[in-house]
Amino acid sequence: MKKHRDKSIVQITDAKIEEYARAMTTPESEDVKALVESSDAELEYIDMLSGNLVGQMLRMLIQVSGAKRILEIGTFTGYSAIVMAEALPDDGEIITMEMNIRYQELASKHFRQFDHQNKIKLLEGNARELVSGLSGDFDLIFIDADKLSYEDYFSQTLPLLKQGGLMVVDNVLWDGTVLDPEDHKAQALHEFNKIVSQDNRVEQLLLPVRDGVTIIRKK
Ligand SMILES: C[S@@+](CC[C@H](N)C(=O)[O-])C[C@H]1O[C@@H](n2cnc3c(N)ncnc32)[C@H](O)[C@@H]1O
Repeated sequence: MKKHRDKSIVQITDAKIEEYARAMTTPESEDVKALVESSDAELEYIDMLSGNLVGQMLRMLIQVSGAKRILEIGTFTGYSAIVMAEALPDDGEIITMEMNIRYQELASKHFRQFDHQNKIKLLEGNARELVSGLSGDFDLIFIDADKLSYEDYFSQTLPLLKQGGLMVVDNVLWDGTVLDPEDHKAQALHEFNKIVSQDNRVEQLLLPVRDGVTIIRKK
């Protein structure tokens, strides 16, 4: 897979360990594998797709917590939305937001193709505006969109999360560049990580999985 970003300052996980972890983790469903192939055929880069380690973590969190109502910020071609929909009970619901028209089309196509239109509602537009029209309670929120807005998404959506609910935030290590932030995104992510770590409304666990994932629990 071609990579969009190529600026790592550290290798977060040893490549062989990551490969081993992937091999020993429950694989993606046939539908999800087909979605990856379809995305790869349509787009130049698909490294924005969160991948099986994060996907399987989301599935586990949904199943263990019994989450039914989910908000996702950043749909891309629908990978994580479909992975989560597969783990939801029949009466579960995902609201997912995407602003890029090409990605909206591909995600909609995949939701139809893999028969998840009933569970997944795609909101088209800028998530920074769309979130203000939502009301709670969500059981789980997955934040995976523009990195400069993570702080806003956290403060806007925490009130929408039920007490004891989970927020999962992807790419919080940003290829390790948060250690020595030189660009806006690395700086914003480092600030976001500090803000979460100092917020006594939540407890959190930053896992060095893939590009860094934080699991936040609202107290
Ligand atoms: C990392 S990708 C999401 C990957 C997806 N969660 C998955 O696992 O396949 C981030 C997506 O967020 C979208 N995005 C970025 N800023 C946004 C915004 N302000 N509102 C809505 N979508 C946004 C991008 O167009 C991109 O498709």
